Amino acid sequence: MGVVLGIDVSTTATKAVLVGEDGRVVGIATSEYGFEVPRPLWSEQDPELWWTAAQDAIPRALAAAGVAGADVAAVGLTGQMHGLVLLDAAGAVIRPAILWNDQRTAAECDAIRAALGPAHLVEVTGNDALTGFTAPKLAWVRAHEPDNWARAAHVLLPKDYVRLKLTGEYAMDKADGAGTLLFNLAARNWSGEVLAALGIDPAWMPPTYEGPVVTGVVTEAAALATGLRAGTPVVAGGGDQAANAVGVGAVVPGRVALSVGTSGVIFATTEAPLYEPAGRVHAFCHAVPGRWHLMSVMLSAAGSLRWFRDALAPGEAFGDLAASAGEVPAGSGGVLFLPYLTGERSPHPDPLARGAFVGLTLGHDRRHLTRAVMEGVAFGLRDGLDLMVAAGMPRPSQILGSGGGTASPVWRQILADVLDAAIATPTTTEGAAFGAAVLASVGAGWFATVEAATDAVVRATPVAEPGPDAPSYAEYHARYRDLYPALAPTFHRMAG
Ligand code: XUL
Repeated sequence: MGVVLGIDVSTTATKAVLVGEDGRVVGIATSEYGFEVPRPLWSEQDPELWWTAAQDAIPRALAAAGVAGADVAAVGLTGQMHGLVLLDAAGAVIRPAILWNDQRTAAECDAIRAALGPAHLVEVTGNDALTGFTAPKLAWVRAHEPDNWARAAHVLLPKDYVRLKLTGEYAMDKADGAGTLLFNLAARNWSGEVLAALGIDPAWMPPTYEGPVVTGVVTEAAALATGLRAGTPVVAGGGDQAANAVGVGAVVPGRVALSVGTSGVIFATTEAPLYEPAGRVHAFCHAVPGRWHLMSVMLSAAGSLRWFRDALAPGEAFGDLAASAGEVPAGSGGVLFLPYLTGERSPHPDPLARGAFVGLTLGHDRRHLTRAVMEGVAFGLRDGLDLMVAAGMPRPSQILGSGGGTASPVWRQILADVLDAAIATPTTTEGAAFGAAVLASVGAGWFATVEAATDAVVRATPVAEPGPDAPSYAEYHARYRDLYPALAPTFHRMAG
């Protein structure tokens, strides 16, 4: 039996997923690790953890599927985006990787905006300078660790370190490349202008490839270490968001994906390199050749409901808690919730934004607060969707929803009403690793295009339509939108 392998190098684990020619998942193994917080707001990981975990997960996935390494037609890589992996000329790790959720680079972001001009930076890269991105991390190393800077010879992203170990090649996919803030979005390649403005040697940056393109083959040493066959092709793959979109079938313009996990992401494939002029939503290359995507990222989506459950309903099952929200009407009796519990990215790129309940009276009980949390998350997602539409993408009539938040019928209905779109859930649940396997299946020649592959293996089931509450949600959303501008000065004073 032929299989393809998707490897997801995430922040908490490396996952290996084997997918058969019919699109069915036949073997999965996960190998977990932690990350370091050497100082508040910092987040680092030793790249060797990823390779060690890959060597653990790959043979276990093969064993779980009952297949041999020789049955694997191709490998696709995905992983946490934006993390800085700095290597010397011999490919040795210089310092721990600085991860996507590290917040140390506020000063460097200001300097990058000043160097390029804020509007021009967005015009070229599609994005504002955010602390999570790779470019400000490089600027931080140059400013604070001159010895490490002097040794630097290669820049990679996390999954590409595993690629280097598997194939001996320095290479990156275009979706992840665009997430560095060093890409020319329209050209789908490194921006000489941005690299020069930031004093980064272009020779440090690897060649970049479209998602399904083969970047190298498994070496003899990597074959021994993983159980794969030497010579197995490894395709470029994509950053986790782009690969996840492939995994749920969001690969053609107009198909929009929503993931309600700890964070909440709306992802829309675009035909052209659209961007939001202030950079309040991300614009990156897609893992689909020649396509781009817009993406809004809410930091605490289902994470807000988890916080609420842990703080006010400890021990209660999420399903029960979410169902109780269905006992009170739309609008939560006038309570509004701001979900900015860990700051926010879209639509307010503000690390100092905070959460809030507003409008409480003696008449409210826990069900109103629960519903307000679920509605507040939906309103924040709608803010992101509206910015994406303003950037030029058509308003979607259907959205492919995945992640824990879309398991609740009450929350699905709120999302359909607030986003004013039908929600459908894809049959595939293995996320980015599955998408990386789909990209590998195209690289292996099983399918001519990514679209043909997803048409063959991904199905979506409609689960909610906008209902009678949709019109009243437009008014509640308008009230919600007034809150951030009113409260931001207070949030900032509290942080000071
Ligand atoms: C995307 C992003 C996260 C990380 C975490 O912009 O920051 O999805 O890739 O996995």
